[in-house]
Amino acid sequence: MNNFTLVNNPLVKCDVTRLRDKNTREDEFRNSIKRISYSLAIEISNFFELEEFPVETPLEQTTGHRLKHQVVLVPVLRAGLSMVNAFIDVMPDAKVGHIGLQRDEKTLQPIDYYYKTPKGLDTAKVILLDPMLATGGSASAAIRYLKERGARNCLFGCLIAAPQGIRKIENDHPEVKIFCSVLDRSLNEKGYIVPGLGDAGDRTYGTL
Ligand code: PRP
Ligand code: URA
Repeated sequence: MNNFTLVNNPLVKCDVTRLRDKNTREDEFRNSIKRISYSLAIEISNFFELEEFPVETPLEQTTGHRLKHQVVLVPVLRAGLSMVNAFIDVMPDAKVGHIGLQRDEKTLQPIDYYYKTPKGLDTAKVILLDPMLATGGSASAAIRYLKERGARNCLFGCLIAAPQGIRKIENDHPEVKIFCSVLDRSLNEKGYIVPGLGDAGDRTYGTL
């Protein structure tokens, strides 16, 4: 697991617990995702590159810094949308693409229904967002699409991962760095992460 980073400080662990709790209400669930997403965004930003430029303070000229590259956030619909606002707060100049994927409940294969990404993926840091990395089929398909559109530097932020999903991404896209707040035990017979949190999209949007 060379490209796997666990982002699990004490506050993140408390929020992961809120997400797992089946009695957590939707508003609390969304707020916990948002707070964990802030931590993920800060950690991922350690991989950004800077360029220097001169800046005038009221007193003298000094060296300032700005990002060398565009940042593109790409949430996987639906559940990935819950992570976007926190990332935009941390990365205010980010552009946002969208990828619509839904797992077929029987085959667990991703079915795609929507794509829209900004231009310039080839030079951007492209951050895929999806709370759940289960079999890895959805994330792998999303990264494949982004690469076909020119993306050369993809990172992936998620909340809960199963070992199977990490292995799939490492196998299909070994260069992609994965950032995650907790690594769970496995998948059950229906492809849900265990212990997990259930269906992230349904719990976020109240469609249980
Ligand atoms: C969930 C989740 C991921 C996918 C993960 O989405 O948000 O996109 O499943 O599973 P995988 O790693 O096995 O592909 P889902 O298909 O439930 O769609 P939704 O967000 O619209 O509920
Ligand atoms: N998608 C979810 O929302 N939850 C899981 O546990 C697996 C896939």
